[in-house]
Amino acid sequence: MGKICNLFFALAILILLLHHHTSLANIDTDKAALLALKSHISFDPNNILASNWSSSGPVCSWIGITCGSRHHRVTASNISSMQLHGTIPPHLGNLSFLVSLNIYNNNFHGDLPNELAHLQRLKFINVRSNNFTGAIPSFLSLLPNLRYMKLSWNQFSGKIPSSLSNLTKLEFLGFQKNSLEGEIPRELGDLPYLTVLDLQDNQLTGSVPTSIFNITTMKILALTGNNFTGKLPTTICDHLPSLEGLHLTSNSLDGVIPPNLEKCRKLQILSLSLNEFVGTISRELANLTALTKLFLGEQHLEGEIPVELGNLKKLQQLSLPDSMFTGSVPASIFNMSTLQLIDLRQNKLSGTLPSGRGMPSLEELYFGLNN
Ligand SMILES: *[C@@H]1O[C@H](CO)[C@@H](O)[C@H](O)[C@H]1NC(C)=O
Ligand SMILES: *[C@@H]1O[C@H](CO)[C@@H](O)[C@H](O)[C@H]1NC(C)=O
Ligand SMILES: *[C@@H]1O[C@H](CO)[C@@H](O)[C@H](O)[C@H]1NC(C)=O
Ligand SMILES: *[C@@H]1O[C@H](CO)[C@@H](O)[C@H](O)[C@H]1NC(C)=O
Ligand SMILES: *[C@@H]1O[C@H](CO)[C@@H](O)[C@H](O)[C@H]1NC(C)=O
Ligand SMILES: *[C@@H]1O[C@H](CO)[C@@H](O)[C@H](O)[C@H]1NC(C)=O
Ligand SMILES: *[C@@H]1O[C@H](CO)[C@@H](O)[C@H](O)[C@H]1NC(C)=O
Ligand SMILES: *[C@@H]1O[C@H](CO)[C@@H](O)[C@H](O)[C@H]1NC(C)=O
Ligand SMILES: *[C@@H]1O[C@H](CO)[C@@H](O)[C@H](O)[C@H]1NC(C)=O
Repeated sequence: MGKICNLFFALAILILLLHHHTSLANIDTDKAALLALKSHISFDPNNILASNWSSSGPVCSWIGITCGSRHHRVTASNISSMQLHGTIPPHLGNLSFLVSLNIYNNNFHGDLPNELAHLQRLKFINVRSNNFTGAIPSFLSLLPNLRYMKLSWNQFSGKIPSSLSNLTKLEFLGFQKNSLEGEIPRELGDLPYLTVLDLQDNQLTGSVPTSIFNITTMKILALTGNNFTGKLPTTICDHLPSLEGLHLTSNSLDGVIPPNLEKCRKLQILSLSLNEFVGTISRELANLTALTKLFLGEQHLEGEIPVELGNLKKLQQLSLPDSMFTGSVPASIFNMSTLQLIDLRQNKLSGTLPSGRGMPSLEELYFGLNN
């Protein structure tokens, strides 16, 4: 049933596209599409579009509109942060030369109409911080040139479509702070140029597919604030040479912290707090010399804090609270000139804290409720 529906949908889109290519479009088409958008805006407190997008003026000089220098068609529409309320009309799909659509930080609601599938030149779409509802639109998978897709801070629900793996040029995928559920489709691991995958603050479940750790271009993998379970692969960093941020805080991941993380040589932020990891901090982590933030607290980690962490010459924040760490705090830690925050609260650490003379940057030191 689902497959038949998909097929039907694909056919319908194809017919729409063919029809579209046979029609004669020009700058008046673009103007009509933008005026339709204007007419779907119910609230424009600063009177921006109402006063500026006037039907008598040339479209290419309207606020937020950019036209191509050769063909004089609309290539970019940026009406971000104008406090606009309204919906997106299907007419916007007539902007056939559109490369960039940015309506970030307004209060548009409803859904993104399927007619936007006509925007075959679109490379950039940012609808962050609006009030869109419904499923992640499946037509997005039909925009072959898309490189940047940010749908964060809306109320999208349902599952992440596996068909997004068709977007072979995609570099940025941002779905933070929606109500997405289900698992990450294994197929997303096929995106060859993905550098940012931000799925934070949804209700995603299951284990993180190992295919995701095979995207060699990945720089930021941000999955904080979901309910991912299972263990991290022991080979987690074998294919992630460019990883700079691994954000997995607030999930239900378990098992040990893989020593293999030391292979992510460029890692700057390692954020694994509030999971169910067990075991110790391996000294190999101290090989991650680019680290600026290390967050491992609020779970069941134990053992001593490795002396070698003092080798992290760029570390600014070390957060290991609410755990079961024992022994004394290595003197090397208090010798790190870049450290701004140390949080060792609620452990079983002993000994005295050296004076902070080697730590000119230190702003916050928490050591309460230890032995
Ligand atoms: C709309 O704003 C643009 C850019 O600020 C300006 O150049 C243009 O003259 C304005 N048009 C009208 C009709 O106000
Ligand atoms: C869109 O416009 C805003 C406000 O003028 C600006 O800060 C932002 O850089 C623009 N973004 C793009 C992608 O053009
Ligand atoms: C633009 O899109 C709308 C709705 O999708 C459609 O009704 C209209 O005929 C299209 N073409 C022109 C030239 O405006
Ligand atoms: C979304 O809508 C709700 C009420 O419907 C409103 O309280 C909230 O401020 C809106 N969010 C944004 C980002 O505009
Ligand atoms: C798009 O993705 C779906 C699901 O992953 C796949 O079945 C389909 O063949 C893909 N279509 C294209 C045109 O690549
Ligand atoms: C990850 O990549 C390796 C090496 O290219 C390959 O052997 C393995 O099958 C891939 N795993 C997944 C889950 O895609
Ligand atoms: C997360 O998933 C686990 C296992 O499915 C479940 O036991 C737990 O209640 C879930 N936690 C939250 C906060 O949803
Ligand atoms: C990684 O750390 C271990 C233990 O501290 C050390 O013996 C090893 O030489 C380091 N490897 C590299 C490549 O720096
Ligand atoms: C602190 O740093 C100084 C200068 O780099 C070094 O000589 C000393 O051995 C270090 N002390 C500890 C405990 O790591």
